[in-house]
Amino acid sequence: MKKILITGADGFIGSHLAEKLAKKKNFKVFALVQYNSFGSNGWLENIDLKIRRKINIVSGDIRDKKFVNTLTRNKDIICHLAALISIPYSYYSPYAYVDTNINGTLNLLESSLENNVKKFIHTSTSEVYGSAQFTPIDEKHPINAQSPYAATKVAADQLVNSYRDTFGLNTITLRPFNTFGPRQSERAIIPSIINQAMINDKNIKLGNIDTKRDFTFINDTINAFEKAIKTGKKINNVINVGTNYSITIKSLAKIIFKILGKNLKILKENRRVRPIKGEVDHLKASNLLAKKKLLWKPNFNGEKGLKKALIITINWYKKNKNFYNNHFYF
Ligand SMILES: NC(=O)c1ccc[n+]([C@@H]2O[C@H](COP(=O)([O-])OP(=O)(O)OC[C@H]3O[C@@H](n4cnc5c(N)ncnc54)[C@H](O)[C@@H]3O)[C@@H](O)[C@H]2O)c1
Repeated sequence: MKKILITGADGFIGSHLAEKLAKKKNFKVFALVQYNSFGSNGWLENIDLKIRRKINIVSGDIRDKKFVNTLTRNKDIICHLAALISIPYSYYSPYAYVDTNINGTLNLLESSLENNVKKFIHTSTSEVYGSAQFTPIDEKHPINAQSPYAATKVAADQLVNSYRDTFGLNTITLRPFNTFGPRQSERAIIPSIINQAMINDKNIKLGNIDTKRDFTFINDTINAFEKAIKTGKKINNVINVGTNYSITIKSLAKIIFKILGKNLKILKENRRVRPIKGEVDHLKASNLLAKKKLLWKPNFNGEKGLKKALIITINWYKKNKNFYNNHFYF
């Protein structure tokens, strides 16, 4: 039985990964939740108790090297997802991003070497590319961080590559494009549109609606992690996880309004608009490498796939209205 550690398992993507792997017989899942004084397990608490009981929940902090060293002992595979991920919040708390995303990743890499971890699966982000200089964006596209968040993810990715090249650590870096689905925080664009549209009858407030993104449904992103976990091949590469279909935020909002049966206007709210040079205009993935190396392809693709996935997501938010707390997220 393979012992898998998931960092960031209390979060959106990590909780889905923990849930999916816990349902399998051949994995013993260790889920790191960030230590907090409420004893909260984050989104792991949204998982059916029967499945949750199979998950070994550990609480702690990846910024603490001593803790991380103990955490990584006797683990076969590490899926590293823990990070601070809000772009606007990184304008205000860049030091916290460096501590978590760079130093936290370094702690995991060092400990993985020391403890002979067999495979290190790192989570990057399409934000490292900056605005597309050509589309679709393949893994050879130049790297250009346009936010402190992206800069810390670039540094983390490079640390992973350096541990691969210098010390021979067996790594796979998955680079998801905008992932969405149940349990995503309201901070992100799709939950923000859905939650605003559910409670308003006249209008919703957004920032720049002309930017284009490649939205990947959570089930597809989790499938990519599963393929990376299961592959016997030494990948040692960065691999995009995206659909190869992009859409403007304006068109996306219109699809959501239609599904909800609402006729709403979009108002521009200045505090949601990002600095002009800091805004990433367009992200659209080439997923050829994922197809070749991991035999992965998105099941929810194109406009049809996006609509199908949005219906699933909207139904989840309708059922889970109590999570809507009307905070303005950075
Ligand atoms: N959501 C997306 O669209 C997307 C796209 C590309 C890449 N990613 C990457 O995927 C990963 C997961 O993102 P997510 O959307 O699930 O975000 P999330 O914020 O829901 O989850 C991240 C988790 O990391 C944990 N964490 C933060 N600091 C920590 C610390 N010091 N110690 C321990 N845990 C800590 C948090 O508790 C949080 O639950 C991140 O690495 C992110 O950069 C996400």
